[in-house]
Amino acid sequence: MAHQISSRVCRNVFITVAVLMCFSVIFYTYYMPTVNWLKWPTVSRSDSCRDICINALKMPNQTERVNNTCTVKITSTTNLLTQAEPVTKTDPDTILLMWPLGRKFYLGSCSSLYNIHGCRLTDNRSLFNNAHGVMFHHRDIHGNLSNMPTLPRPLFQKWIWMNMESPSRTVKRSALNNLFNLTASYRLDSDIPVPYGRLLEKTGEKTTYRIPHKNKLVCWIVSNWKAKYNRTQYYETFKQHIRIETYGRGFSKNISNEDYLNVVSSCKFYLAFENSIHKDYITEKAYRPLVLGTVPVVLGPPRENYEKLIPGNAFIHVDDFSSPKELAEHLKLLDQNEDLYRQYFTWREHYVTREGSGSV
Ligand SMILES: *[C@@H]1O[C@H](CO)[C@@H](O)[C@H](O)[C@H]1NC(C)=O
Ligand SMILES: *[C@@H]1O[C@H](CO)[C@@H](O)[C@H](O)[C@H]1NC(C)=O
Ligand SMILES: *[C@@H]1O[C@H](CO)[C@@H](O)[C@H](O)[C@H]1NC(C)=O
Ligand SMILES: *[C@@H]1O[C@H](CO)[C@@H](O)[C@H](O)[C@H]1NC(C)=O
Ligand SMILES: *[C@@H]1O[C@H](CO)[C@@H](O)[C@H](O)[C@H]1NC(C)=O
Ligand SMILES: *[C@@H]1O[C@H](CO)[C@@H](O)[C@H](O)[C@H]1NC(C)=O
Ligand SMILES: *[C@@H]1O[C@H](CO)[C@@H](O)[C@H](O)[C@H]1NC(C)=O
Repeated sequence: MAHQISSRVCRNVFITVAVLMCFSVIFYTYYMPTVNWLKWPTVSRSDSCRDICINALKMPNQTERVNNTCTVKITSTTNLLTQAEPVTKTDPDTILLMWPLGRKFYLGSCSSLYNIHGCRLTDNRSLFNNAHGVMFHHRDIHGNLSNMPTLPRPLFQKWIWMNMESPSRTVKRSALNNLFNLTASYRLDSDIPVPYGRLLEKTGEKTTYRIPHKNKLVCWIVSNWKAKYNRTQYYETFKQHIRIETYGRGFSKNISNEDYLNVVSSCKFYLAFENSIHKDYITEKAYRPLVLGTVPVVLGPPRENYEKLIPGNAFIHVDDFSSPKELAEHLKLLDQNEDLYRQYFTWREHYVTREGSGSV
Protein backbone atom coordinates (compact mmCIF):
# COMPACT_ATOMS: atom_id res chain seq x y z
CA MET A 1 0.00 0.00 0.00
CA ALA A 2 2.68 2.43 1.03
CA HIS A 3 4.52 1.61 -2.09
CA GLN A 4 1.45 2.17 -4.21
CA ILE A 5 0.84 5.57 -2.70
CA SER A 6 4.40 6.53 -3.13
CA SER A 7 4.57 5.45 -6.70
CA ARG A 8 1.33 7.21 -7.45
CA VAL A 9 2.72 10.39 -5.99
CA CYS A 10 5.87 9.81 -7.90
CA ARG A 11 3.89 9.53 -11.06
CA ASN A 12 1.93 12.67 -10.32
CA VAL A 13 5.15 14.52 -9.86
CA PHE A 14 6.33 13.04 -13.05
CA ILE A 15 3.38 14.13 -15.06
CA THR A 16 3.73 17.58 -13.62
CA VAL A 17 7.42 17.76 -14.23
CA ALA A 18 7.05 16.45 -17.72
CA VAL A 19 4.32 18.91 -18.48
CA LEU A 20 6.37 21.79 -17.21
CA MET A 21 9.49 20.57 -18.89
CA CYS A 22 7.94 20.37 -22.22
CA PHE A 23 5.79 23.37 -21.90
CA SER A 24 8.23 25.48 -23.77
CA VAL A 25 7.96 23.07 -26.62
CA ILE A 26 4.20 23.13 -26.62
CA PHE A 27 4.25 26.82 -26.10
CA TYR A 28 6.54 27.22 -28.98
CA THR A 29 4.41 25.10 -31.26
CA TYR A 30 1.21 26.90 -30.43
CA TYR A 31 2.24 30.42 -29.78
CA MET A 32 4.88 30.86 -32.37
CA PRO A 33 6.16 34.10 -30.99
CA THR A 34 7.06 37.08 -33.11
CA VAL A 35 10.46 36.83 -31.52
CA ASN A 36 12.41 33.64 -31.24
CA TRP A 37 13.00 33.63 -27.50
CA LEU A 38 14.78 30.34 -27.57
CA LYS A 39 17.72 32.24 -28.97
CA TRP A 40 17.84 34.58 -26.06
CA PRO A 41 20.68 34.20 -23.70
CA THR A 42 19.12 33.58 -20.32
CA VAL A 43 19.71 30.76 -17.93
CA SER A 44 21.51 27.51 -18.37
CA ARG A 45 19.71 24.24 -18.86
CA SER A 46 20.47 22.82 -15.48
CA ASP A 47 19.03 25.93 -13.88
CA SER A 48 15.98 25.53 -15.96
CA CYS A 49 15.62 21.94 -14.86
CA ARG A 50 16.12 22.86 -11.25
CA ASP A 51 13.58 25.59 -11.48
CA ILE A 52 11.01 23.33 -13.02
CA CYS A 53 11.62 20.57 -10.56
CA ILE A 54 11.22 22.94 -7.66
CA ASN A 55 7.89 23.97 -9.02
CA ALA A 56 6.80 20.42 -9.33
CA LEU A 57 7.93 19.59 -5.84
CA LYS A 58 5.96 22.49 -4.48
CA MET A 59 2.73 20.98 -5.70
CA PRO A 60 0.35 20.37 -2.83
CA ASN A 61 0.58 16.90 -1.32
CA GLN A 62 3.67 16.12 -3.24
CA THR A 63 6.40 18.08 -1.56
CA GLU A 64 6.45 16.01 1.56
CA ARG A 65 6.01 12.71 -0.17
CA VAL A 66 8.52 12.97 -2.96
CA ASN A 67 11.52 10.84 -2.27
CA ASN A 68 14.56 9.54 -3.96
CA THR A 69 12.81 6.77 -5.72
CA CYS A 70 11.34 9.34 -8.01
CA THR A 71 13.18 9.06 -11.23
CA VAL A 72 13.68 12.74 -11.77
CA LYS A 73 17.35 13.18 -12.27
CA ILE A 74 18.82 16.53 -11.57
CA THR A 75 22.25 17.33 -12.85
CA SER A 76 22.62 20.66 -11.16
CA THR A 77 24.86 20.59 -8.15
CA THR A 78 22.58 22.88 -6.23
CA ASN A 79 21.63 21.93 -2.73
CA LEU A 80 18.20 23.42 -3.14
CA LEU A 81 16.90 20.06 -4.08
CA THR A 82 18.40 17.73 -1.61
CA GLN A 83 15.20 15.72 -1.66
CA ALA A 84 15.71 14.78 -5.26
CA GLU A 85 19.22 13.60 -5.80
CA PRO A 86 20.25 11.79 -8.93
CA VAL A 87 18.80 8.32 -8.79
CA THR A 88 18.17 5.39 -11.02
CA LYS A 89 14.93 4.50 -12.63
CA THR A 90 12.64 2.28 -10.58
CA ASP A 91 9.28 2.55 -12.31
CA PRO A 92 8.24 1.90 -15.86
CA ASP A 93 8.15 5.00 -18.01
CA THR A 94 5.48 7.53 -17.31
CA ILE A 95 3.80 8.38 -20.57
CA LEU A 96 2.45 11.81 -21.28
CA LEU A 97 0.44 11.97 -24.45
CA MET A 98 -0.09 15.26 -26.19
CA TRP A 99 -3.39 14.50 -27.79
CA PRO A 100 -2.97 15.58 -31.37
CA LEU A 101 -5.79 17.90 -32.32
CA GLY A 102 -4.63 18.75 -35.75
CA ARG A 103 -1.22 20.19 -35.06
CA LYS A 104 2.10 18.52 -34.99
CA PHE A 105 4.09 18.66 -31.81
CA TYR A 106 7.77 18.90 -31.77
CA LEU A 107 8.75 16.54 -28.98
CA GLY A 108 12.17 15.51 -30.02
CA SER A 109 14.42 17.26 -27.59
CA CYS A 110 12.53 17.08 -24.31
CA SER A 111 14.21 14.21 -22.60
CA SER A 112 17.72 14.89 -23.75
CA LEU A 113 17.43 18.59 -23.16
CA TYR A 114 16.32 18.36 -19.59
CA ASN A 115 17.87 15.07 -18.69
CA ILE A 116 14.58 13.74 -17.48
CA HIS A 117 14.43 10.00 -17.33
CA GLY A 118 11.60 7.56 -17.10
CA CYS A 119 9.21 9.85 -18.88
CA ARG A 120 8.04 9.57 -22.43
CA LEU A 121 6.33 12.35 -24.24
CA THR A 122 4.47 11.35 -27.30
CA ASP A 123 1.79 12.43 -29.72
CA ASN A 124 1.15 8.88 -30.86
CA ARG A 125 -2.51 8.09 -30.27
CA SER A 126 -1.82 4.37 -30.24
CA LEU A 127 -0.36 4.86 -26.78
CA PHE A 128 -3.62 6.16 -25.35
CA ASN A 129 -4.29 3.05 -23.28
CA ASN A 130 -0.87 3.29 -21.65
CA ALA A 131 -0.70 7.03 -21.13
CA HIS A 132 -0.71 8.30 -17.53
CA GLY A 133 -1.47 11.81 -18.63
CA VAL A 134 -3.19 13.10 -21.76
CA MET A 135 -2.97 16.77 -22.51
CA PHE A 136 -5.43 18.73 -24.62
CA HIS A 137 -5.20 22.25 -25.95
CA HIS A 138 -8.49 24.01 -25.43
CA ARG A 139 -8.48 26.09 -28.57
CA ASP A 140 -8.11 23.06 -30.80
CA ILE A 141 -10.92 20.96 -29.36
CA HIS A 142 -13.97 20.81 -31.60
CA GLY A 143 -17.21 21.92 -29.93
CA ASN A 144 -18.78 18.54 -30.76
CA LEU A 145 -15.77 16.73 -29.27
CA SER A 146 -15.27 14.90 -32.54
CA ASN A 147 -11.50 15.11 -32.20
CA MET A 148 -11.35 13.87 -28.61
CA PRO A 149 -10.52 10.27 -27.67
CA THR A 150 -13.37 7.86 -28.07
CA LEU A 151 -11.87 4.88 -26.25
CA PRO A 152 -12.80 4.41 -22.60
CA ARG A 153 -10.37 6.08 -20.26
CA PRO A 154 -8.01 3.89 -18.28
CA LEU A 155 -8.66 4.35 -14.54
CA PHE A 156 -5.19 5.67 -13.78
CA GLN A 157 -5.16 8.21 -16.59
CA LYS A 158 -5.33 11.96 -15.97
CA TRP A 159 -6.59 14.40 -18.53
CA ILE A 160 -4.96 17.79 -18.55
CA TRP A 161 -6.68 20.86 -19.91
CA MET A 162 -4.24 23.39 -21.29
CA ASN A 163 -5.08 26.94 -22.26
CA MET A 164 -3.04 30.12 -22.36
CA GLU A 165 -5.65 32.49 -23.73
CA SER A 166 -7.62 34.83 -21.50
CA PRO A 167 -11.33 34.19 -20.89
CA SER A 168 -12.13 37.01 -23.33
CA ARG A 169 -10.50 35.04 -26.08
CA THR A 170 -11.57 31.56 -25.06
CA VAL A 171 -14.68 29.91 -26.44
CA LYS A 172 -16.68 28.34 -23.66
CA ARG A 173 -17.42 24.69 -24.33
CA SER A 174 -19.85 23.21 -21.85
CA ALA A 175 -19.27 19.76 -23.34
CA LEU A 176 -15.88 19.89 -21.62
CA ASN A 177 -17.28 20.15 -18.10
CA ASN A 178 -16.19 17.32 -15.81
CA LEU A 179 -13.81 15.79 -18.28
CA PHE A 180 -10.45 16.92 -16.94
CA ASN A 181 -8.40 16.08 -13.87
CA LEU A 182 -5.75 18.80 -14.05
CA THR A 183 -5.47 22.27 -15.50
CA ALA A 184 -2.43 23.91 -17.01
CA SER A 185 -2.66 27.62 -17.72
CA TYR A 186 -1.19 31.03 -16.92
CA ARG A 187 -3.52 31.23 -13.91
CA LEU A 188 -1.48 30.84 -10.74
CA ASP A 189 -4.19 28.72 -9.20
CA SER A 190 -3.93 26.11 -11.96
CA ASP A 191 -2.76 22.65 -11.00
CA ILE A 192 0.19 23.24 -13.27
CA PRO A 193 0.74 26.99 -13.38
CA VAL A 194 2.60 28.11 -16.45
CA PRO A 195 2.99 31.87 -16.32
CA TYR A 196 4.21 33.61 -19.47
CA GLY A 197 7.43 34.39 -17.73
CA ARG A 198 9.01 34.61 -14.36
CA LEU A 199 11.79 36.04 -12.33
CA LEU A 200 14.47 33.97 -10.79
CA GLU A 201 16.51 34.96 -7.85
CA LYS A 202 20.08 35.58 -8.87
CA THR A 203 22.73 33.38 -7.47
CA GLY A 204 26.42 34.13 -7.47
CA GLU A 205 28.07 37.48 -7.24
CA LYS A 206 26.28 40.75 -7.50
CA THR A 207 26.72 42.43 -10.85
CA THR A 208 25.73 45.91 -11.86
CA TYR A 209 23.22 45.98 -14.65
CA ARG A 210 24.10 48.03 -17.69
CA ILE A 211 21.02 49.71 -19.10
CA PRO A 212 20.95 49.36 -22.90
CA HIS A 213 21.44 52.50 -24.96
CA LYS A 214 18.21 54.46 -25.29
CA ASN A 215 17.20 56.81 -28.07
CA LYS A 216 13.41 56.72 -27.75
CA LEU A 217 11.11 57.51 -24.88
CA VAL A 218 7.91 55.46 -25.20
CA CYS A 219 7.28 52.62 -27.65
CA TRP A 220 4.41 50.36 -28.45
CA ILE A 221 4.28 47.40 -30.83
CA VAL A 222 0.78 46.20 -31.59
CA SER A 223 -0.44 43.58 -33.99
CA ASN A 224 -4.02 43.25 -32.82
CA TRP A 225 -5.74 46.61 -32.95
CA LYS A 226 -9.32 46.82 -31.79
CA ALA A 227 -11.07 50.03 -30.89
CA LYS A 228 -13.02 48.29 -28.13
CA TYR A 229 -9.95 47.24 -26.16
CA ASN A 230 -9.35 49.16 -22.96
CA ARG A 231 -5.77 49.70 -24.06
CA THR A 232 -6.85 51.41 -27.27
CA GLN A 233 -8.94 53.91 -25.35
CA TYR A 234 -6.10 54.60 -22.98
CA TYR A 235 -3.65 55.06 -25.81
CA GLU A 236 -5.88 57.54 -27.62
CA THR A 237 -5.77 59.92 -24.67
CA PHE A 238 -2.21 59.13 -23.66
CA LYS A 239 -0.75 59.99 -27.05
CA GLN A 240 -2.08 63.54 -26.76
CA HIS A 241 0.36 64.11 -23.91
CA ILE A 242 3.53 62.31 -24.91
CA ARG A 243 5.28 61.15 -28.04
CA ILE A 244 4.83 57.39 -28.63
CA GLU A 245 6.76 55.45 -31.25
CA THR A 246 4.37 52.87 -32.66
CA TYR A 247 5.08 49.75 -34.67
CA GLY A 248 3.48 46.48 -35.67
CA ARG A 249 0.64 45.33 -37.85
CA GLY A 250 -1.81 47.44 -35.84
CA PHE A 251 -0.03 50.48 -37.24
CA SER A 252 0.75 48.94 -40.66
CA LYS A 253 4.39 48.93 -39.71
CA ASN A 254 5.63 45.37 -39.83
CA ILE A 255 8.62 44.67 -37.74
CA SER A 256 11.12 41.84 -38.06
CA ASN A 257 12.27 39.76 -35.11
CA GLU A 258 15.58 41.49 -35.04
CA ASP A 259 14.01 44.93 -35.21
CA TYR A 260 11.67 43.91 -32.44
CA LEU A 261 14.54 43.30 -30.06
CA ASN A 262 16.34 46.46 -31.10
CA VAL A 263 13.29 48.66 -30.87
CA VAL A 264 12.19 47.42 -27.46
CA SER A 265 15.62 47.73 -25.91
CA SER A 266 16.19 51.21 -27.34
CA CYS A 267 13.11 52.66 -25.63
CA LYS A 268 13.06 53.89 -22.07
CA PHE A 269 9.50 52.69 -21.65
CA TYR A 270 7.43 50.08 -23.38
CA LEU A 271 3.64 49.98 -23.28
CA ALA A 272 2.84 46.49 -22.03
CA PHE A 273 -0.89 46.82 -22.53
CA GLU A 274 -2.81 43.54 -22.35
CA ASN A 275 -5.63 42.99 -24.82
CA SER A 276 -8.03 42.05 -22.04
CA ILE A 277 -7.97 42.40 -18.31
CA HIS A 278 -8.10 39.24 -16.24
CA LYS A 279 -6.64 37.83 -13.04
CA ASP A 280 -3.03 36.68 -13.60
CA TYR A 281 -3.24 37.47 -17.30
CA ILE A 282 0.22 38.99 -17.58
CA THR A 283 1.78 38.04 -20.85
CA GLU A 284 5.04 38.26 -22.72
CA LYS A 285 4.14 41.90 -23.34
CA ALA A 286 5.31 42.62 -19.81
CA TYR A 287 8.15 40.09 -19.69
CA ARG A 288 9.91 40.95 -22.93
CA PRO A 289 10.78 44.50 -21.96
CA LEU A 290 12.06 43.16 -18.65
CA VAL A 291 14.27 40.72 -20.51
CA LEU A 292 15.41 43.43 -22.91
CA GLY A 293 16.26 46.11 -20.37
CA THR A 294 13.26 48.37 -20.75
CA VAL A 295 10.73 49.55 -18.19
CA PRO A 296 7.25 48.19 -18.94
CA VAL A 297 4.26 50.46 -18.44
CA VAL A 298 1.57 47.92 -17.73
CA LEU A 299 -2.17 47.93 -18.28
CA GLY A 300 -3.87 44.78 -17.09
CA PRO A 301 -4.94 43.36 -13.73
CA PRO A 302 -4.27 45.46 -10.61
CA ARG A 303 -0.76 46.22 -9.42
CA GLU A 304 -0.99 43.67 -6.56
CA ASN A 305 -1.53 40.97 -9.12
CA TYR A 306 1.60 41.96 -11.04
CA GLU A 307 3.56 42.04 -7.83
CA LYS A 308 2.90 38.35 -7.32
CA LEU A 309 5.15 37.77 -10.32
CA ILE A 310 7.30 40.85 -10.83
CA PRO A 311 8.97 43.17 -8.27
CA GLY A 312 6.91 46.30 -7.72
CA ASN A 313 9.78 48.60 -8.68
CA ALA A 314 10.37 46.93 -12.04
CA PHE A 315 7.34 48.38 -13.79
CA ILE A 316 4.96 51.32 -13.89
CA HIS A 317 1.25 50.62 -13.67
CA VAL A 318 -1.21 52.91 -15.42
CA ASP A 319 -3.39 52.72 -12.30
CA ASP A 320 -0.61 54.44 -10.34
CA PHE A 321 -1.76 57.65 -12.00
CA SER A 322 -5.15 59.26 -11.98
CA SER A 323 -5.02 60.03 -15.70
CA PRO A 324 -3.02 59.31 -18.85
CA LYS A 325 -1.85 62.93 -18.66
CA GLU A 326 -0.30 62.39 -15.22
CA LEU A 327 1.40 59.24 -16.40
CA ALA A 328 2.83 61.18 -19.35
CA GLU A 329 4.18 63.81 -16.97
CA HIS A 330 5.81 61.17 -14.80
CA LEU A 331 7.52 59.56 -17.78
CA LYS A 332 8.81 62.94 -18.94
CA LEU A 333 10.17 63.57 -15.47
CA LEU A 334 11.99 60.22 -15.53
CA ASP A 335 13.33 61.09 -18.95
CA GLN A 336 14.99 64.15 -17.44
CA ASN A 337 16.24 62.48 -14.30
CA GLU A 338 18.64 59.60 -14.80
CA ASP A 339 18.79 58.75 -11.08
CA LEU A 340 15.05 58.36 -10.83
CA TYR A 341 14.97 56.28 -13.99
CA ARG A 342 17.65 53.99 -12.62
CA GLN A 343 15.44 53.15 -9.66
CA TYR A 344 13.46 50.94 -12.02
CA PHE A 345 16.52 48.77 -12.52
CA THR A 346 17.64 48.15 -8.96
CA TRP A 347 15.67 44.86 -8.78
CA ARG A 348 18.05 43.48 -11.37
CA GLU A 349 20.68 43.10 -8.70
CA HIS A 350 18.59 40.29 -7.29
CA TYR A 351 16.67 38.77 -10.14
CA VAL A 352 16.89 37.65 -13.72
CA THR A 353 13.85 37.51 -15.96
CA ARG A 354 12.81 34.50 -17.88
CA GLU A 355 10.21 34.40 -20.55
CA GLY A 356 8.10 31.33 -21.26
CA SER A 357 7.66 28.76 -18.60
CA GLY A 358 10.37 26.17 -18.56
CA SER A 359 11.99 27.50 -21.68
CA VAL A 360 15.72 27.14 -22.05
C1 LIG B 1 10.33 6.22 -0.89
O1 LIG B 1 9.39 5.48 -1.68
C2 LIG B 1 9.60 4.07 -1.65
C3 LIG B 1 8.56 3.40 -2.55
O2 LIG B 1 8.52 3.96 -3.80
C4 LIG B 1 9.50 3.57 -0.24
O3 LIG B 1 9.76 2.18 -0.23
C5 LIG B 1 10.49 4.27 0.66
O4 LIG B 1 10.30 3.88 1.99
C6 LIG B 1 10.30 5.81 0.55
N1 LIG B 1 11.34 6.47 1.31
C7 LIG B 1 11.09 7.46 2.14
C8 LIG B 1 12.25 8.07 2.84
O5 LIG B 1 9.94 7.90 2.33
C1 LIG C 1 -3.84 17.04 0.24
O1 LIG C 1 -3.46 17.46 1.53
C2 LIG C 1 -4.51 18.03 2.26
C3 LIG C 1 -3.95 18.56 3.56
O2 LIG C 1 -2.81 17.84 3.96
C4 LIG C 1 -5.61 16.98 2.47
O3 LIG C 1 -6.68 17.53 3.17
C5 LIG C 1 -6.10 16.49 1.10
O4 LIG C 1 -7.04 15.45 1.26
C6 LIG C 1 -4.94 15.98 0.28
N1 LIG C 1 -5.41 15.65 -1.07
C7 LIG C 1 -5.06 14.54 -1.68
C8 LIG C 1 -5.59 14.38 -3.08
O5 LIG C 1 -4.32 13.71 -1.19
C1 LIG D 1 2.74 4.57 -32.47
O1 LIG D 1 2.80 3.58 -31.49
C2 LIG D 1 2.53 2.27 -32.00
C3 LIG D 1 2.43 1.33 -30.82
O2 LIG D 1 3.56 1.43 -30.00
C4 LIG D 1 3.63 1.91 -33.00
O3 LIG D 1 3.37 0.63 -33.52
C5 LIG D 1 3.64 2.92 -34.10
O4 LIG D 1 4.71 2.69 -34.98
C6 LIG D 1 3.77 4.33 -33.54
N1 LIG D 1 3.59 5.29 -34.61
C7 LIG D 1 4.47 6.26 -34.83
C8 LIG D 1 4.16 7.20 -35.93
O5 LIG D 1 5.49 6.39 -34.17
C1 LIG E 1 -17.57 18.42 -35.47
O1 LIG E 1 -17.04 19.73 -35.62
C2 LIG E 1 -16.03 19.86 -36.60
C3 LIG E 1 -15.45 21.25 -36.56
O2 LIG E 1 -16.43 22.19 -36.30
C4 LIG E 1 -16.60 19.50 -37.96
O3 LIG E 1 -15.60 19.60 -38.95
C5 LIG E 1 -17.13 18.07 -37.92
O4 LIG E 1 -17.74 17.75 -39.14
C6 LIG E 1 -18.14 17.90 -36.77
N1 LIG E 1 -18.45 16.48 -36.65
C7 LIG E 1 -19.67 16.02 -36.39
C8 LIG E 1 -19.81 14.55 -36.26
O5 LIG E 1 -20.62 16.76 -36.26
C1 LIG F 1 -10.43 12.17 -13.89
O1 LIG F 1 -11.67 12.85 -13.99
C2 LIG F 1 -12.72 12.04 -14.46
C3 LIG F 1 -13.92 12.93 -14.68
O2 LIG F 1 -14.22 13.67 -13.54
C4 LIG F 1 -12.99 10.94 -13.44
O3 LIG F 1 -14.03 10.13 -13.89
C5 LIG F 1 -11.71 10.13 -13.29
O4 LIG F 1 -11.90 9.17 -12.27
C6 LIG F 1 -10.54 11.00 -12.93
N1 LIG F 1 -9.32 10.20 -13.04
C7 LIG F 1 -8.33 10.24 -12.15
C8 LIG F 1 -7.18 9.35 -12.40
O5 LIG F 1 -8.36 10.96 -11.15
C1 LIG G 1 -12.37 48.10 -19.68
O1 LIG G 1 -13.33 48.71 -20.52
C2 LIG G 1 -14.66 48.35 -20.21
C3 LIG G 1 -15.59 48.95 -21.27
O2 LIG G 1 -15.14 50.16 -21.72
C4 LIG G 1 -14.99 48.88 -18.81
O3 LIG G 1 -16.31 48.51 -18.46
C5 LIG G 1 -14.02 48.26 -17.83
O4 LIG G 1 -14.23 48.79 -16.54
C6 LIG G 1 -12.59 48.52 -18.23
N1 LIG G 1 -11.73 47.78 -17.33
C7 LIG G 1 -10.71 48.32 -16.70
C8 LIG G 1 -9.98 47.45 -15.76
O5 LIG G 1 -10.39 49.47 -16.88
C1 LIG H 1 4.05 41.27 -41.97
O1 LIG H 1 4.80 40.14 -41.60
C2 LIG H 1 4.07 38.96 -41.59
C3 LIG H 1 4.96 37.86 -41.04
O2 LIG H 1 6.26 38.00 -41.48
C4 LIG H 1 3.58 38.65 -43.00
O3 LIG H 1 2.83 37.46 -43.00
C5 LIG H 1 2.72 39.81 -43.47
O4 LIG H 1 2.31 39.61 -44.80
C6 LIG H 1 3.48 41.12 -43.37
N1 LIG H 1 2.60 42.23 -43.68
C7 LIG H 1 2.99 43.27 -44.36
C8 LIG H 1 1.96 44.33 -44.53
O5 LIG H 1 4.10 43.36 -44.81
